Amino acid sequence: MPDATHAIATPAPSQPAVIHRSDYRPPAWMVPDVSLDFDLDPDATRVRAKLDVRRGSAAGEPLRLDGAGQTLLSVHVDGVAVNDWTLDNDALVIPLSGEAHTVETEVEIAPEANSQLMGLYASSGILCTQCEAEGFRRITYFPDRPDVLARYRVRMTADKARFPILLANGDPVDGGDLDDGRHWAEWHDPYPKPSYLFALVAGDLAVNRGSFTTMSGREVVLGIWVREGDLARTDHALHALKLSMAWDEQVYGREYDLDVFNIVAVDDFNFGAMENKGLNIFNSRYILADPDTATDIDYDNVAGVVAHEYFHNWSGNRITCRDWFQLSLKEGFTVYRDQGFSADQGSAAVKRIEDVRSLRASQFPEDGGPLAHPVRPESFIEISNFYTATIYNKGAELIRMMATILGPQRFRAATDLYFERFDGTAATCEDFVACMEDAGGVDLSQFRLWYSQAGTPRVAATLDHQAGGGRATLRLSQQVPATPGQPEKHAMVLPLKIRLFGAETGRPLTDEQLVLLDQPAETLVFEAISERPVLSINRGFSAPVVIESDRSPADLAFLSGHDDDPFARYEAMQQLMLDTLVAGAIEGQADHRAVIGAVGATLSDPSLDPAFVAEAVLLPAEGFIADQLATVDPEAVFTAREALRRDLGAQLEGQWREAYDGPRAPYAYTPRDKGLRRLRNVALGYLAATGAEDAAKLAFTQFAAADNMTDRQGALQVLSNTDFDERVAAFDIFFHRYADNPLVLDKWFQTQALSSRADTADVVVELAQHRAFSLTNPNRARALVGAFGVNQRAFNRADGVGYRFLADQLIALDRINPQTSAKLLPPLGRWRRFDPARSALMRGELERIVATPGLSKDLFEQASKSLE
Ligand code: PHE
Ligand code: ZN
Repeated sequence: MPDATHAIATPAPSQPAVIHRSDYRPPAWMVPDVSLDFDLDPDATRVRAKLDVRRGSAAGEPLRLDGAGQTLLSVHVDGVAVNDWTLDNDALVIPLSGEAHTVETEVEIAPEANSQLMGLYASSGILCTQCEAEGFRRITYFPDRPDVLARYRVRMTADKARFPILLANGDPVDGGDLDDGRHWAEWHDPYPKPSYLFALVAGDLAVNRGSFTTMSGREVVLGIWVREGDLARTDHALHALKLSMAWDEQVYGREYDLDVFNIVAVDDFNFGAMENKGLNIFNSRYILADPDTATDIDYDNVAGVVAHEYFHNWSGNRITCRDWFQLSLKEGFTVYRDQGFSADQGSAAVKRIEDVRSLRASQFPEDGGPLAHPVRPESFIEISNFYTATIYNKGAELIRMMATILGPQRFRAATDLYFERFDGTAATCEDFVACMEDAGGVDLSQFRLWYSQAGTPRVAATLDHQAGGGRATLRLSQQVPATPGQPEKHAMVLPLKIRLFGAETGRPLTDEQLVLLDQPAETLVFEAISERPVLSINRGFSAPVVIESDRSPADLAFLSGHDDDPFARYEAMQQLMLDTLVAGAIEGQADHRAVIGAVGATLSDPSLDPAFVAEAVLLPAEGFIADQLATVDPEAVFTAREALRRDLGAQLEGQWREAYDGPRAPYAYTPRDKGLRRLRNVALGYLAATGAEDAAKLAFTQFAAADNMTDRQGALQVLSNTDFDERVAAFDIFFHRYADNPLVLDKWFQTQALSSRADTADVVVELAQHRAFSLTNPNRARALVGAFGVNQRAFNRADGVGYRFLADQLIALDRINPQTSAKLLPPLGRWRRFDPARSALMRGELERIVATPGLSKDLFEQASKSLE
């Protein structure tokens, strides 16, 4: 028992501490080996930890073990009970005289009461852990930092009836029954790992088993663990896992390294999934899929996340991060790898379009707002707030640019070098870039600015042609906007893929070339350009930048039909739509003819993949249109977009009907069928926008007759934006049909929260009182509160009801689960972008949040930075 005279935890400071990258020091103590003994019980779990500690860098320093929320029961050093330890805030500080010792602690924790879902917690009767980034300290006292790598032995004891399955990292080594109805199991992970990769699971689970033979002929036993009733929905995930294992061998030469690989699905999870060594733990939404309950997008996401977590075994686990400022080292690279995997499963062009769409929807606004930060941040208050689109998605774009600069062979040589040089260590972003340079034979000095400068670069491009002279001149200039703490920026290296096309003949006039724009301004000259050239730039989205060009609507329409790069075709169409919509939002009306012509041509081009057509004819999201305006007018954006939708629907009605009536077959998840379903649902949306008399009937019939969730939810979405009577009926039917399926009920909440109807804010306020709504489940909270925050029209209703609702929910959620609450705050931080009335309302809510007593560091950091 702890001695009552010991120093008591000092009260938390009113302003949470800021952690700086420049303060990094190597660990004072290393822990080569650790044994953990869990006596598992939902109300009171005992954890005994035995750490072999060795002095690391600094001589004379005491051992400092992080902790949080546990009850300390005893401390032993070299087998002897000691009481000269102190608690400094939550850390356990033990003075040690020698170079190596054995330190044992015993603590008690309460998984059932853990609502923040960090550390050991309970999710519908399953005990599981989440340790990234700093959750391990909630389980036991330990140097909870990623550069302390230990070999783990884990013993678990639990009631056998309630927890028949006991899993941990690595391989199972032993187990048995005890005479009191309890049983035990021991697991051993031979690979040294940081504490954030620790995991255990105890529960009544069923398994979908598989096996994979690695490239060197080793057999790996695979298991997807879920509740019995969910077993039938795990085949897609298991299949995706096998594909991922093969892909990483073929594309990166990476082989799996343990005899077992387990995945467990749980309903309560703060993020998507977690790459714990040999024991991935997933949010069930990224495992469970069958045609009746999961859409094509859900299927794609399951495969993408399974791949992502599997790929972390090398990019994250075998090579981990030295400190959390290096988070993008594993996340940016692993996102790049999972994007490559998904591109190889179907249409690479469509995958690229989807990835750029999501970058623009989530990362660009972050980069342009108060929470902007570099891919390698300089400081943070709470690391959980840095699992962002910038670290993940912009981080992936940085890897993609280096791959573009090196070319495929040299890039592969560079990743081989990285895996070889840093295997078994905790590395930095700098280490990765150095491998790119060493194996690629390039100098990336200036490129490194991508890691340190925040903000989305803007490139201005103008192309002039001397008629008859044959010479074309391309003037490029770049500008990187100021971001918080970074008023001045240096010019960056922007890899821009460029090609010129002839306006009359449609022929390419040049080869594609890669221009590395590394000056504030540059001029490129093209000779022997015999006809007026049209500029195709940033092809494939080779750099994550905004292009400002003076291309006319006619030229953009031309490129949308003739460019040979599918991404560039999509992009030209988007730019044309965007220019039209911005004009409509500012002037109240716009000339729709160029867009209608281009969309009509795309719809009738038989050479195009339906999946591509469906993406190309979609209008840019309201948020992205708003980002182009000096001051956001959400109603004007909505009205302009609706006007164009209606016009497109009406003018091209015959083509939409043709697309809608296209070939139908019983459900199959193939790239071709997926594309056809997507196009049909897009067509249905346009038909509904025209107000066509039969649109309600078409949508409701599709809803009722669908043999898959893609078509059912697609129809529900179309109905959700209308006044049709069928809308109410469909939501009712949907609710009752899926009342016992939480993942599908999330769709029921989300679809209503995303509706463009004028009454959505009121509906959402009411839905928060629905008996099926709860803030304790992160998926449910995100489905209603998160979706509402990105519904630009409803959230920004002029009377501020949306802002007040979001703030109320965030304050309530912060007491339950600070991480999830903080993630949902960013929509309030856009206040600078709005008119004075909305601005004041949003700021008022942020101030109310910051002034809330007992606020978490998570929400404090997000709200206070949003006010700056
Ligand atoms: N590391 C996980 C991933 O991206 C994400 C995660 C972070 C999950 C923190 C849980 C907690 O794969
Ligand atoms: Zn990841």
